Amino acid sequence: MKIIKTVTEMSGLCNTELKNLKTGFVPTMGALHAGHISLVNQSVKENDITIVSIFVNPKQFNDKSDFENYPVTIENDLDLLEKANCDIVFIPQANDIYKDYDGYEMDFEGLDKIYEGEFRPGHFRGVIDIVYRFFSIINPDNSYFGEKDFQQLAIIKLMVKKAELPVNIIPCKIMREDSGLAMSSRNARLSINQKTTASEIYKTLNAVKESATVDQSPEQLISFITREIDKNDDLKTEYVVFCEPESLKSVNIFREKSSVRLCVAVWCGKIRLIDNISLQF
Ligand code: PAJ
Repeated sequence: MKIIKTVTEMSGLCNTELKNLKTGFVPTMGALHAGHISLVNQSVKENDITIVSIFVNPKQFNDKSDFENYPVTIENDLDLLEKANCDIVFIPQANDIYKDYDGYEMDFEGLDKIYEGEFRPGHFRGVIDIVYRFFSIINPDNSYFGEKDFQQLAIIKLMVKKAELPVNIIPCKIMREDSGLAMSSRNARLSINQKTTASEIYKTLNAVKESATVDQSPEQLISFITREIDKNDDLKTEYVVFCEPESLKSVNIFREKSSVRLCVAVWCGKIRLIDNISLQF
């Protein structure tokens, strides 16, 4: 496994040796867990070469303390990537990757203002800036994103469409702990008790998935979900929404034979967690 630390070396390699190879790219912020590795496994299966980036992107953190406390576990990350047969790890520095680059201007069509965007102003702007930059350096054939960050995935797809980039965006399903808690680098900051409590989030989403019918109103279910989650000490919902899986438009009525995504953000103590689940009517 090769470790590359500069943009010059990374782009040099992509423009020469890797040019005619099918390349899979998995962008990450490190503190890797089995969720990230599932993306790497899929890339390794589907491409000649897999490149994983590790970069805690300062631009996408709207909360300074979240950035400062973001877990960094580089030795463990490299170990996991080596075992997963990753070919190249790209670990750039902020001043190198952002040198002479102000970001990618894009009309988000309002997608950056709702749900996560409402509570994390500037977050998606930062995500798009770095992912566009990575794509222009690496030029991957396929790039892998988790459905865990459902809105991020939709916004990246929009960016690729608008910029007409020749990359396939491959969605990957959410990996969970045995308790149902969606894996997240931020889970490392939860206590054992908080982890148990946080697993109530998925249990509630799953119960709704199993029982929801078209006759129910999304509004009433949102009140139910909010109550169920918030009755746990330490949990506080920030938003609960049912939305269309592609446009992310919020859904006010369930229709027969439709697919709807239920998305939530919940504070567990000082840690903000997100999760989502698909409902089929
Ligand atoms: P990060 O949070 O490190 O996540 C990297 C990728 O792993 C994302 O595509 C995310 O959706 C996916 N992922 C995280 N947890 C997952 C889980 N439990 N199951 C499946 N996939 C999971 O998302 C980012 O980094 C950044 O915003 C990034 C795209 C790298 C840009 O900086």
